[in-house]
Amino acid sequence: MDIRQFSFEAWLASQSQRAENALLHYLDPELAMPQRLHTAMRYAVLGGGKRIRPLLVYAASELGSKPLLIPKLVDVAASAIEMIHSYSLVHDDLPCMDDDDLRRGRATVHKAFDEATALLVGDALQTRAFEILASPMAEGNGHVQLKMIEALALASGSKGMAGGQAIDLQNVGKKMDLPALEQMHAMKTGALLICAVRLGGIAVQLPPASMGQLDLYAKALGLAFQVVDDILDVTADSATLGKTAGKDAAQDKPTYVTLKGLDYAHELAKELKGRALNSLNQFGPEADALRHLASLVVDRKK
Ligand code: IPE
Ligand code: IPE
Ligand code: MG
Ligand code: MG
Ligand code: MG
Repeated sequence: MDIRQFSFEAWLASQSQRAENALLHYLDPELAMPQRLHTAMRYAVLGGGKRIRPLLVYAASELGSKPLLIPKLVDVAASAIEMIHSYSLVHDDLPCMDDDDLRRGRATVHKAFDEATALLVGDALQTRAFEILASPMAEGNGHVQLKMIEALALASGSKGMAGGQAIDLQNVGKKMDLPALEQMHAMKTGALLICAVRLGGIAVQLPPASMGQLDLYAKALGLAFQVVDDILDVTADSATLGKTAGKDAAQDKPTYVTLKGLDYAHELAKELKGRALNSLNQFGPEADALRHLASLVVDRKK
């Protein structure tokens, strides 16, 4: 019998380091031409961020029987989704969107560089993500890589993150009903979180039934993630968050907090965490990292 206890702290430390190493490796070097753009791309991605999406890729891949045999494919997936997420933050902060000066504890890309560079950083991070996912690799498999590319494209585009951001901007100053709010959150934030979990599952070729359970987990967690983001916008300070607190009220954004109040939002986050955990019931200790990540996401302070 295996009597080793799963230590989430140790897992988190090692997998967070793994995500940093993978990103360092898969981002082009600063010295690549044009240097200013590559420097700004590295600035946008490195030196901050909780790396929740790469951690979800790694955790989901542990449900496979031999995750260690495909470390490169999983690292590529983890890096690709963090590049897309980082690009979404760079664009989210632009003056034409949320107009933010602070991100991950330092100046936003358009402040540290300039607006045109911030636009191009987003463009180039997005294409770099697909470039690395499509690159030939010894342990890769064309069919598996194509499925991963499709999943990431769907989650990032007009029916996923970018579409959700469009709905967000269309609704500044307006009241949304709950189904519309849920739809917006599911798209702007949930889609990439669901995709992170899927990428891990696709990489290790999980059977459809397991993928279905993982989707239920990620759907609940994805919504919880944005509900908690909305809560923290009201309850935390800018120094803790590393981004400007109080933005949603200041910009009159519909959120669970502005629509239904803090207590409701807290209750909903708790309920969604329960739903996420229940979706993992059929799995054993191989899903422990996913279980702990659900708590990390919902109980986080930043
Ligand atoms: C912030 O995402 C934007 C949302 C989608 C709510 P994170 O809270 O994951 O930001 P980082 O990556 O840790 O900076
Ligand atoms: C952004 O939501 C979601 C993205 C797709 C980037 P927010 O606008 O609430 O994210 P923060 O609070 O600025 O990180
Ligand atoms: Mg926004
Ligand atoms: Mg924002
Ligand atoms: Mg927010």
